[in-house]
Amino acid sequence: MIVTKTTRPIADQKPGTSGLRKTTSVFQQPRYLENFVQSIWNGIGGIQGKTLVLGGDGRYFCQEAAQIILKMAAASGARKVIVGESGLLSTPAASHLIRLHGADGGIILSASHNPGGIDGDFGVKFNTANGGPAPESVTDAIFRASETLSEYQTLNTPDLDLGALGTVMLAQTEIVVVDPVADYAALMESLFDFDAIAALIAGGFRLCFDAMHAVTGPYAREILVRRLGAPETALRNATPLPDFGGGHPDPNPVWAHDLMETMMRADAPDFGAASDGDGDRNMIVGRGIYVTPSDSLAVIAANAQLAPGYADGLAGVARSMPSSAALDRVAAARGLECHVTPTGWKFFGNLLDAGRATLCGEESAGTGSDHIREKDGLWAVVMWLNILARRRMSVADVMAAHWREFGRNYYSRHDYENVATDAANGLITDLRARLDKLAGETHGALTVATAEDFSYADPVDGSVTRNQGLQITFAEGARLVLRLSGTGTSGATLRVYMDCFVPGPEGLDRDPQQALADVILACDRLTGMKDRLGRDGPDVVT
Ligand code: G1P
Ligand code: ZN
Repeated sequence: MIVTKTTRPIADQKPGTSGLRKTTSVFQQPRYLENFVQSIWNGIGGIQGKTLVLGGDGRYFCQEAAQIILKMAAASGARKVIVGESGLLSTPAASHLIRLHGADGGIILSASHNPGGIDGDFGVKFNTANGGPAPESVTDAIFRASETLSEYQTLNTPDLDLGALGTVMLAQTEIVVVDPVADYAALMESLFDFDAIAALIAGGFRLCFDAMHAVTGPYAREILVRRLGAPETALRNATPLPDFGGGHPDPNPVWAHDLMETMMRADAPDFGAASDGDGDRNMIVGRGIYVTPSDSLAVIAANAQLAPGYADGLAGVARSMPSSAALDRVAAARGLECHVTPTGWKFFGNLLDAGRATLCGEESAGTGSDHIREKDGLWAVVMWLNILARRRMSVADVMAAHWREFGRNYYSRHDYENVATDAANGLITDLRARLDKLAGETHGALTVATAEDFSYADPVDGSVTRNQGLQITFAEGARLVLRLSGTGTSGATLRVYMDCFVPGPEGLDRDPQQALADVILACDRLTGMKDRLGRDGPDVVT
């Protein structure tokens, strides 16, 4: 039976870089999730007769949330909801299912790489019919709906059993419980040279994939073990757990330190990789060498034609502004269109839809292509395996050859986490106010060439997005970017991105932090960061 419940607006339901992300306890407050879900329905013009995809990364509260959303979808007249078994779907698999079934959109339950559990974070993200994160026009409409909400509809029925595949009716709505892995694995097999990869593995190539107790365990087992022939021992932490085993499921050298340690040993496997909470991020490591996400994107752009799905070449490429310009160098050498967008995958959607970009990526371990409309962790892993299987070189040799050909962009990101919001805002506001006057100033060894607050004009729909990060370039070929995180749930996180270019052939083998020492110093001189934030240094260096 449909019931209408009275509610009132909840103040802070504004989606950030990637959906609405809050601590789990905030989401568990009475009406909190219900209000946001009804605001989605209202913000997109209702869901009467529509088909949705639903799934999440299995974190704490996903099961309860899925049941609440299914009842609310049925109460508001959805035609069909396709849901992953046990409520599980990786973000890329959800994006693929939306596209495969021509659904009107989907809801993904995840706070990505943020820790989960009762003391961790939870999140809800709405994706549109193209399979990608809702653009700002849609998230703004959802937020506006949340500000005037007075009631929501749900059903007064027991929970559904999501543990069994098949179709059941919930009021007039078909609920289709699907295998979360099968369609996604088939998609990967259609894009990559599975025979070449299987032959590489059969020939003794060793790999190690760390699922970080998050959603990709079952996906990696199907693809890497069952279809490509890697031994089960190639998988680590492959059972999804509601609290990710107490870990921080963010695939970078800091949080995936066990994998890093394995890969830096003399007897390390040939290839290491990891993915995050919801399976859209990736980390690539060779024996003795970590590949930065910006470099990984550039290598993929330079080698994608080795994979059957990309054999016809690339329509163009795109990267987020804070990512290094390594991609731009490949694009320039190959005559490809190269777009620079604000942080957040949603900005790639129009370029992919319009055929202006085939590959895209972010420095934050996100890489992907037009096969779906999300970044895709396992896609990047299998793409690398395909490249290695065809080139028959080690990861270290692939990188060395790449830098010799294109030069090297040394790159690092320094995060100052959970700093006082006022101090972080003050730092950015003051620097922004000085941008016009910075050109020509010398800070340490570097002289400012240009300074701007990045804004992006979407070449497809003409929309303009402003205030996307302060970008300062130096005459010496280095760059500094500062922006505030839009995904945190407490305090502020200041992200400082630095890169400098070395054309080679000399100087391609330096330690990135040393290569960037002048930029690090210039940053502190320009902003007075250490004093203003009361910190000696960053919390996380990647
Ligand atoms: C972070 C990353 C960004 C990514 C987002 C969602 O956002 O920096 O590249 O798109 O997570 O995975 P931020 O916290 O910086 O706003
Ligand atoms: Zn993620």
